[in-house]
Amino acid sequence: MKTRAICISAICQLLLHLEGALSNWEDWWTYDGISGPNFWGLLNPDWKLCDKGRRQSPINMDPSILLFDPQLRPLQMDKLRVSGTIRNTGHSIIFDADTTPEVAVVNVTGGPLSYKYRLQQIHIHYGREDNRGSEHMIGGYAFPAELQIIGYNSDLYPNMTEALRLHKNQGLVGLSALMQSGDLSNAELRIVTSKLDEITFRGQEAKIEHLSFRELLPKTDFYVTYDGSTTLPGCYETVTWIVMNKPIFITKQQLHALRKLKQGDKPTPKAPLADNFRPIQALNHRVVRTNIDFRRPRGTHCPTMFQDLKYRVNSQSWNDGS
Ligand SMILES: *[C@@H]1O[C@H](CO)[C@@H](O)[C@H](O)[C@H]1NC(C)=O
Ligand SMILES: *[C@@H]1O[C@H](CO)[C@@H](O)[C@H](O)[C@H]1NC(C)=O
Repeated sequence: MKTRAICISAICQLLLHLEGALSNWEDWWTYDGISGPNFWGLLNPDWKLCDKGRRQSPINMDPSILLFDPQLRPLQMDKLRVSGTIRNTGHSIIFDADTTPEVAVVNVTGGPLSYKYRLQQIHIHYGREDNRGSEHMIGGYAFPAELQIIGYNSDLYPNMTEALRLHKNQGLVGLSALMQSGDLSNAELRIVTSKLDEITFRGQEAKIEHLSFRELLPKTDFYVTYDGSTTLPGCYETVTWIVMNKPIFITKQQLHALRKLKQGDKPTPKAPLADNFRPIQALNHRVVRTNIDFRRPRGTHCPTMFQDLKYRVNSQSWNDGS
């Protein structure tokens, strides 16, 4: 109590925070203030990559830096539907597929991947307002939300925990669908958002049956890929990110339902979960590759997030013909 009386600076607030929560780091990192993203690397020695890492995520994908790579193949993903649990973790909404041996295993291969990955989780990041929320940005533009499907390398590791342990190579894949506000939602997303009123508070969870990872992604073979990190602490640099080149749609009502979710438990709901995105990280000369062939002649129809954007790739100018 004595500390409390004299604490006026941010450092002291941090100490007060520590008094209450030293036992459980997981509980008290946040997306703002003194336990926010700028401090994650200082909170826990195992999270030092959040501070020191040079291959971090998310990034801003500026069209001018995209490199067309003809070696990139389409992604191959199983159609199977999975069951699992969706949870309000106090930081995010996370769906975890059941892992008992007899259940469906959804594999993804191809694309930039050298290994087979088993899809395991879905994370949703979103903003309090439509002008922010996604982690990845395109040309400096944020989307109101981003859905990330996370899988682990099942050729090399027995489960997600093992794939994430420090110094593991090629541990995870992150498939990202940026979400755009629209009148009609992605049909599969409705299965997820229909459960939101059961997980308003931290720690609450709900069962989801028969969810298709594949149907959550936009229908396109085109993507952008780079090597990065998990966007939650400890920021492990073991993720191959694949950002689909088309958004999926989310309605205003669904965004509203997301924005009603709280960071705290029922007795102490605290602030909304919204704005749970990590800020853009430096690229540090990493290569950002795409299988979108910008060299196609003008006038050919090409999928792109923007109808009127000019890309410059391999020093050639290209316009999608609109
Ligand atoms: C996914 O891969 C596992 C082996 O890692 C295999 O047992 C399973 O049948 C595959 N799933 C499908 C749908 O092919
Ligand atoms: C992951 O695999 C390791 C090594 O096989 C095992 O010790 C651990 O219990 C597994 N964890 C989970 C959550 O299944």
